[in-house]
Amino acid sequence: MNDSLQARDKKFLWHPYTQMEDYAQRDILIIDRAEGLMLYDQQGKDYFDTISSWWCILHGHNHPTIKGFLRHQLDKLDHVLLAGASHEAAILLAEKLISLTPEKLTRIFYSDNGSTACEVALKMSLQYWRHTGRPGRKRFIALERGYHGDTIGTMSLGGVPDFHKEFAEILFQSFTIPSPYCYRCPAAQSPESCRLECLLPLRELLEREGENIAAIILEPLIQAAGGMRIYPARYLQELAELVQGHGVHLILDEVATGFGRTGKMFALEHAGITPDFLCLSKALTGGMLPMAATLTTEEIYQAFYGPYRENKTFYHGHTFTGNPLAAAAALGSLQVFAEEQPFTRLGHTIPHLHGKMSRFGELPWVGEVRCLGMIAALELVKNKQTKEPFSFAERVGWKIYLKGLEQGLLLRPLSNIVYLWLPISATIKEIDEITERAWRVLGDADNISGWSAK
Ligand SMILES: Cc1ncc(COP(=O)(O)O)c(C=O)c1O
Repeated sequence: MNDSLQARDKKFLWHPYTQMEDYAQRDILIIDRAEGLMLYDQQGKDYFDTISSWWCILHGHNHPTIKGFLRHQLDKLDHVLLAGASHEAAILLAEKLISLTPEKLTRIFYSDNGSTACEVALKMSLQYWRHTGRPGRKRFIALERGYHGDTIGTMSLGGVPDFHKEFAEILFQSFTIPSPYCYRCPAAQSPESCRLECLLPLRELLEREGENIAAIILEPLIQAAGGMRIYPARYLQELAELVQGHGVHLILDEVATGFGRTGKMFALEHAGITPDFLCLSKALTGGMLPMAATLTTEEIYQAFYGPYRENKTFYHGHTFTGNPLAAAAALGSLQVFAEEQPFTRLGHTIPHLHGKMSRFGELPWVGEVRCLGMIAALELVKNKQTKEPFSFAERVGWKIYLKGLEQGLLLRPLSNIVYLWLPISATIKEIDEITERAWRVLGDADNISGWSAK
């Protein structure tokens, strides 16, 4: 049975972000069941899900409260379209999300994944400017190494060339500003001398092109897929002030950071800012079902509101927009927040995780340890002094992934960046076990053939 599942996987599946040839001679990990932080394969071997299954699992797998909400919903309503109809779970969830986010965000538009949450914000922004008599505002600004999804629109604002270069010819033109990459500061400053010089290009761009710009999109506090680049809250504050001062919409993509992962409910709280659009997905349902939401202000909503004949409708919608089961799972996840008060626990677990990670900084092949809430990343380098990176060909991340599996860790490094993206439910004991196993993988250079620290 196991072999045949392997064989059938190889025969029929095309896995995302995967070079399938890697599995020509190797079995893929087939997960049979999950509970809490653990995944179990068909042989019963367990693995810590250290990356929360692509950053969405929040309270651990199969949380009973979320399952309870889901069961209840299953007995009532499976699905109904959200155009010309509505349902209780979507309404209750909208109400709850609005109460949790900054006061100015009063309207919610549902969709079903992170890319579409961002795509909706881009389209709404553009259409807003047309409805309000400023159709010239049609350009967008994005950050180098930003990532907002894999649709054509979000790829056009993506800053990770490896992901999107094959499509470059058909992507729309946008403005790009430097990544706030403190380890390799684009303005050659240190954290002590930093005066946010990396925002200078944005300042100049706004002076020059401000009137032509609809919006800027960025991931608050951490550029995740672009290499777990964590940057200071004051960068975010100053950026928000700058762009909103020029009348440019601020789109915060909290698809990855939302719902407690950074130690606060939303990363924007670290900077005390209010965006014009807030994009949520991933952990919205505790990671159990796909769902997304784009929140915006009454001012933007009102620009679309009017008599039918004026044709200001927002013509956008996905079949599963606001799906009742997903909405129920999201309500279940918010109920877990009420029941378990995870922020009290995080007050202990976050400093513990950061403390455990600091040890990795002593390794000659760890250039930097970066931590934010339940996220911890290591940037591996060939040479600590020169910060010379490992090359693409050396494929360090892949070797670590394989070694991780042997140690019972599901890691998925982003090239030379090894990271933990833990559920907010992780306990001190689990953090100890995960970091101990990670040390066994990373602490020994001989572990990885061809990996030599200079
Ligand atoms: C910040 C951010 N935005 C958007 C997305 C896209 O989300 P999805 O994969 O659900 O389309 C991701 C996915 O990793 C992300 O990290």
